[in-house]
Amino acid sequence: MQRRKLRVAVVGATGAVGEEMLRVLETRQFPVSDLVPLASERSRGRSVAFRGKPVDIRVLGKESFQGIDLALFSAGASISREFAPQAVRAGAVVVDNSSAFRMDPEIPLIVPEVNSEMISRHKGIIANPNCSTIIMVVAIAPIHRLSPIQRIVASTYQAASGAGAKGMDALLREVEGENQRSTSVPLNSRAKDSPFPHRLAGNLIPRIDVLQENGYTKEEMKLVFETRKIMGLPPIPISATCVRVPVERAHSESVQITTRDPLSLEEIREAIQNSPGVQLQDSPREDVYPMPLIVSGEDDVFVGRIRKHPDERNTYDLWIVGDQIRKGAALNAVQIAEKLLDG
Ligand code: A2P
Repeated sequence: MQRRKLRVAVVGATGAVGEEMLRVLETRQFPVSDLVPLASERSRGRSVAFRGKPVDIRVLGKESFQGIDLALFSAGASISREFAPQAVRAGAVVVDNSSAFRMDPEIPLIVPEVNSEMISRHKGIIANPNCSTIIMVVAIAPIHRLSPIQRIVASTYQAASGAGAKGMDALLREVEGENQRSTSVPLNSRAKDSPFPHRLAGNLIPRIDVLQENGYTKEEMKLVFETRKIMGLPPIPISATCVRVPVERAHSESVQITTRDPLSLEEIREAIQNSPGVQLQDSPREDVYPMPLIVSGEDDVFVGRIRKHPDERNTYDLWIVGDQIRKGAALNAVQIAEKLLDG
């Protein structure tokens, strides 16, 4: 893609990730000549703000991609499956935030800090990984470069934002209801139209996305398969437990890795400190470690609580936090587009 001003479509521009894509395009001064925000019939007549001006939302349809150079998709997998190939046929390059194409061997799955060299293999569509996967691989790739990772065990603490604007809205309404609680509102009441299977406020829900035959959820298996694809790993053992937590927008992860060779904690810290997109925040005695409240709104992924396993060889425990909407979705998509421009 040539470095010139581009006509950019954002599919799902009214959603939590789509709106953040607009902010990231603005703040990173991405060379946009025309912005085309696309959404559903429900958003007809509305506008979004871009560079201080309102831009009319258009309803997504067959003709939406005429003249578009770059299309950022974040409106769910079925919309991507139907419209991303149409956008490519119309001449656009697609960066797709859904799960529709991530495991297609022909489609690059990119985290720029980890595998940007794969971008050039695209044939029109580039997939943006799942939020938990992006946040984890940015943090562990520097360690993998020191010594190949041979095993991963991850537990995620995923924010409401992972279920989009309606997820954050449901959590806020439940918390508000809790603050104004009268004896007539039962403690376990779930917000109307919540995308979660149970009340989230004051709770933990150990099931994200649908259950698979093997007892793991689709979210957990995404982390396994996507991590192997992005990091170019052989089928090493990886397992995950993904939990929804009552946090607005940053995901946290407890991750245990085993490397081929022994590493010192100093080496690990130094590798993280010297890598782009990730910051060390590891002074637990001073109560300094990453937390979702602090990391929300940040571009980088933060790592702390780095420990060497007391019993297992070459095994390390990490605590990782990243803003789900930013690096976990919108920022990573725009960074992929920036790499396209540079390439
Ligand atoms: P709309 O607001 O018009 O429904 P989130 O994941 O935060 O809920 O956002 C989902 C995004 O995907 C929204 O921008 C939503 O637009 C968009 N979307 C959902 N269904 C469609 C559809 N059928 N056509 C176009 N956009 C859609």
